Amino acid sequence: MTSQPTGSPHTFRIAAIPADGVGKEVVVAGRAVLDALAQRSEGRFAFSWTEFPWGCGHYERTGRMMDDDGLETLKDFDALYFGAVGWPTVPDHISLWGLRLKICQNFDQWANVRPVHFHPGVVSPLRKADTTELDWVVVRENSEGEYAGFGGRNLSGRGPGNEVALQTALFTEAGCERIIRFAFELASTRARRKVSSVTKSNAQQYGMVLWDETFERVAQDYPDVETESVLVDAMSAKFVLHPEDLSVVVASNLNADILSDLGSALAGSLGLAASANLNPERRFPSMFEPVHGSAPDIAGRGLANPIGAVGSAALMLEHFGLPDEAARLQKSIEATTGAGILTRDVGGDASTDRVVEALIDNLAL
Ligand code: NAI
Ligand code: MG
Repeated sequence: MTSQPTGSPHTFRIAAIPADGVGKEVVVAGRAVLDALAQRSEGRFAFSWTEFPWGCGHYERTGRMMDDDGLETLKDFDALYFGAVGWPTVPDHISLWGLRLKICQNFDQWANVRPVHFHPGVVSPLRKADTTELDWVVVRENSEGEYAGFGGRNLSGRGPGNEVALQTALFTEAGCERIIRFAFELASTRARRKVSSVTKSNAQQYGMVLWDETFERVAQDYPDVETESVLVDAMSAKFVLHPEDLSVVVASNLNADILSDLGSALAGSLGLAASANLNPERRFPSMFEPVHGSAPDIAGRGLANPIGAVGSAALMLEHFGLPDEAARLQKSIEATTGAGILTRDVGGDASTDRVVEALIDNLAL
């Protein structure tokens, strides 16, 4: 952690990569709220933004999702603030691998933290949410597993209908250990000290069994933290039926990707969910982005919910060593949803801009 700035102003250099669709709208929103926060910091800190025009439009113009020396350019920033990548004109596997996954993998952002947060004023499809306090966080292994990118396609020469494809998941003991340990460290800071590990080790008997064994071994170092090992299908049911029993949920790349979307849908909308792609050693910049994609169905119409992007900005402030400012942002989110200022996806009729305006006003609370 960088230390909390004291006295002298500190400028955080942030690379903004809005990319595609609503990604552009929510990054504008997040920047506006962060700049308003800096303005109110009485000169203690400021943000200096550099925006990169990468994404599917850039691909159509240049044949590349990002510049060839893009990673080199990004590596000296304090953090990356990302929108969402993907547009119907470019195959999704090209856009995702060419930008977001390229950054996550090469900057070894191996821990993906995705809080499932229930906001006042937002109706959850989960009846329990009315009467039970719910709050958990999904910790996603973000560097290997099912998204390691190993495999290939071949044998199309055998004629139509005969091609084969291999998609190989990679589980390393070191990779499992570092994310599991990260989950235990996080659980140690929470009111409920519990880690739920999720695999499918009954069916996937190599990688996932290595994960389970690593989980058992690491758990011994944290005797104060409660543990459970749950299969992913059962965990998806538990998200709905017994979410009050969750605190930190740690899972592989694919499983946690799916579970975190389920979590944010239970909280009311994909548009609410925040996420941090962390390189905990700080050898590379970490990247903060909403969980949702580019939402082509609503893009460009002022309908995007900016809360996921603004919540991601709060995670960025924590990473910068500004926990009070992160809490202030979180409080302003609660005040805004609590006052019923909501975008359409969560049952309101406020525009993106209207929500941003309220978020900025509520920073004063
Ligand atoms: P999506 O997350 O873009 O949209 C799913 C649903 O949620 C849509 O109905 C959309 O309108 C709604 N939604 C998403 N964000 C919202 C917001 N901020 N406010 C209100 N409603 C919102 O997922 P989808 O449709 O599967 O993918 C669209 C594109 O995004 C694809 O190209 C996909 O590859 C890409 N994608 C990119 C991600 C990233 O950059 N991290 C993550 C997920 C998808
Ligand atoms: Mg996802």
